[in-house]
Amino acid sequence: MIRRYDFGSPIHTGAVVRELPVENAAVPFFATEVKDSQVRFTIHMDADDLVFGLGESLRGINKRGHLYRAWNSDDFSHTENKASIYASHNLLLFSGKEKLFGVYFDDPGAMEFDLGYTRGDTAVITSENGDLSVYIIEADSLTAICKEFRGLIGRSYLPPKWAFGYIQSRWGYSSDPEVRNVVKEHRDRHIPLDGVCMDIDYMVDYKDFSWNKEAFPDLKQLCTDMKEENIRLIPIIDAGVKQLEGYDTCDVGLEKDYFVKKADGKPFVGAVWPGRSYFPDFLREDVRTWFGGEYSKLMDEGIEGFWNDMNEPALFYSEESIAEAFAVADKLRNENLDIHSAFALKDAFNGTANNMEDYRRFYHEVDGQTIRHDKIHNLYGAYMTRAAAEGFRRYDSSKRFLLFSRASFVGAHRYGGVWQGDNSSWWSHIKLNLQMLPSLNMCGFLYSGADLGGFSCNTTEDLMLRWLQLGVFSPLMRNHSADHTREQEVYRFANWEDMRDILTVRYGLLPYLYSEFMKAALSDGMYFRPLAFDYPTDDVACRVEDQVMLGSDCMIAPVYEQNARGRHVYLPEDMLMVRFRSATDYDLTPMEAGHYWIELALNEMPLFIRRGHVVPLAKPAEYVEGIDFTDLRLLGWLDEGVTT
Ligand code: GLC
Repeated sequence: MIRRYDFGSPIHTGAVVRELPVENAAVPFFATEVKDSQVRFTIHMDADDLVFGLGESLRGINKRGHLYRAWNSDDFSHTENKASIYASHNLLLFSGKEKLFGVYFDDPGAMEFDLGYTRGDTAVITSENGDLSVYIIEADSLTAICKEFRGLIGRSYLPPKWAFGYIQSRWGYSSDPEVRNVVKEHRDRHIPLDGVCMDIDYMVDYKDFSWNKEAFPDLKQLCTDMKEENIRLIPIIDAGVKQLEGYDTCDVGLEKDYFVKKADGKPFVGAVWPGRSYFPDFLREDVRTWFGGEYSKLMDEGIEGFWNDMNEPALFYSEESIAEAFAVADKLRNENLDIHSAFALKDAFNGTANNMEDYRRFYHEVDGQTIRHDKIHNLYGAYMTRAAAEGFRRYDSSKRFLLFSRASFVGAHRYGGVWQGDNSSWWSHIKLNLQMLPSLNMCGFLYSGADLGGFSCNTTEDLMLRWLQLGVFSPLMRNHSADHTREQEVYRFANWEDMRDILTVRYGLLPYLYSEFMKAALSDGMYFRPLAFDYPTDDVACRVEDQVMLGSDCMIAPVYEQNARGRHVYLPEDMLMVRFRSATDYDLTPMEAGHYWIELALNEMPLFIRRGHVVPLAKPAEYVEGIDFTDLRLLGWLDEGVTT
């Protein structure tokens, strides 16, 4: 059962697809306070209450005990103290002896979630603008609540099958020979591969929908040759459009008035990779139709997938904020800088990026209304995703295109997937990325995954290998890294054969993983679930933070510590452990419910299959198209014994 309660004048976000009547009564479970146009929802939490949700956000699977802020932010340092990253997925699930319900705050502006941070026994959720719809979702289990919620927000995006293959990416690939070489290095060593991402360096001066004709003299031929090798190229598109006369996307955008504007009616100018840029008003349908159509410039060359980036939107500075910073610098130029002024100088420039003042400087047209950006900030990336997806559908409605975005809001899950943003090559981020996956699934984002190996900082060969072992299970399996970091394509490492063998596990399990993904997508289910969803009466399982359920039959428990040669695992029921070294080299151990220390050498990864269930395993292949979905072995622990 879902009930809706409105506050202020809710702005249509597009998150919800089922129109529900507005209740007259007070919101149940919460004490509600409206003050200075903010709305605050307060609830007492018992000692044993668990809190799940918030989709892509930092910290654990159980969100209790910290402070989160819904404010899509370009932040490449995912440390524990951060309250916001790239997405706002305002769903919470409360579960305890006296409580079981979900609540979705459909609010496109800033929200604060104090989930026992200020007071351990109290959750306080604040809508800073006070214009929102609140949905209370009740059902008899956490899984059922999520299913109800997913019915409210609509069916998840379906990527093409090839997008479940391994994808190699790196900020820096900048020419046809370089891309071909990456593919060759994989194919020569029989390292499976289905896609190569093209980061910003394929463009001319970071202009969206352009490509460097010297570096890529015949993009169409490259796409054709790659497709013959079962490889797709996946270019990046950024939200900001370079300010430049003679650049058609910019010229048309200006002529048709498609960019967001300041109060004085002039287009807002903010800087991203290309320097000064304009920002399409994706909230407008005509702008989405135009921008979504621009992707065809690349699709005409044979491109079948894209990633949308910098769409929080990220702003390095605006004309105004940089002018203010220079004014501070001019004032301090000949001063003897002390503790205050030295920091003031630094802050003046650091503060120009993603500056709150800038987000108040421009406006959108939403259903004929002019709305200041900060009131709907969290929708921007979602509507860019929507623009692209609708463009793809118009281009060829018979085909599934790959699309994943950095920024998102609930609703974007119907149009594309997400990647988990700019993580770092830190061991703690394997665990963090694992913890995000079930929460993303609760909000409908099924096609997702992290930058394997880590984006910023330098990876190591053991970290890369362990991260791939988690990546085997995430629908988006992409190795991506930042410019100037250690090169981390599998073939760069001495232990590349171990990495290749782990990749064969992905392709061996792919028929199962793909089928579980499709089941989850088509039945509003979850591909990844916290253990608490499957074993709600098992107090130990409910608090497990480093193992997650996968599909109807499995549990995963990756190793995420350096130098570890194993890990502790809790089995809530009898399970068969498959200890994989490759898709053809594995051993099977039936294990009764309980606590275990499991030995796992660096090249070994476990999969746990529930007793009485079977998981199919295909023969290894080097690309998705090459997998024989009919020639499968079944792994399982059945009454008759263990099947291999
Ligand atoms: C952003 C993206 C990252 C990309 C980089 C350059 O930081 O999150 O994935 O490599 O921009 O385009």
